[in-house]
Amino acid sequence: MRQLRGQERAITANRQTSWSFADAFVAEDDALRWARERAREAGLPSVSPGTGGALRLLAATADAKAVAEIGTGTGVSGIYLLLGMRPDGVLTTVDLQPERQQHAKTAFRAAGFAGNRARFIPGRALDVLPRLADGGYDLVFCDGDRLEYLDYLAESLRLLRPGGLVCFEGVFADGRTVDSGAQPAEVQRIRELLRAVRESQELVPSLLPVGDGLLCAVRRG
Ligand SMILES: C[S@@+](CC[C@H](N)C(=O)[O-])C[C@H]1O[C@@H](n2cnc3c(N)ncnc32)[C@H](O)[C@@H]1O
Repeated sequence: MRQLRGQERAITANRQTSWSFADAFVAEDDALRWARERAREAGLPSVSPGTGGALRLLAATADAKAVAEIGTGTGVSGIYLLLGMRPDGVLTTVDLQPERQQHAKTAFRAAGFAGNRARFIPGRALDVLPRLADGGYDLVFCDGDRLEYLDYLAESLRLLRPGGLVCFEGVFADGRTVDSGAQPAEVQRIRELLRAVRESQELVPSLLPVGDGLLCAVRRG
């Protein structure tokens, strides 16, 4: 990377402070803290508060009644999505690991959501997604296997109603996406995803610099 001049360095440092402030802007309650703690114990990343706040905002903006999530984890992102959705909305959430979904179920209950607000489907995303209804979802949130992100995009285009939103977590890959050094396959897949979303005539994209990067796109009507 080229050398930064003093003023540029100061701007970068100030921006970083502002980004940290923005990412911590949303306060978290006991249910979210509990879900985060279970994720930490399992060595599992969960969405940052800033990313969670963005997901909640997007679900509310879409007036979402049906949301599909790939990668339940211990339920951090699920709580944020449910908080933004309509009170009668249902989150369909998929994960390979049923024991993580058990934690998420407990966390959703602790957050005050009735049992019928979430449908937990254990299994591999690419086995489960083809069974979900065409055009039946207002928002699809992808946080599963990065190697499968392009497949999730294809499935999402089928699952979303016109005007619906697809979001991909972690597209900065901790800085590796823009690093010019050799990168593993999952980073290369993320770059392909970014290109595909940016070039798609069917999508209106934006890359939000929250958490580890949240790529969002609206399916045109
Ligand atoms: C980063 S964690 C999800 C964190 C969660 N979204 C949150 O913020 O609380 C990724 C999850 O995806 C699940 N996963 C990985 N590959 C998957 C696949 N192919 N199909 C379904 N789930 C998968 C993992 O078991 C893990 O729980």
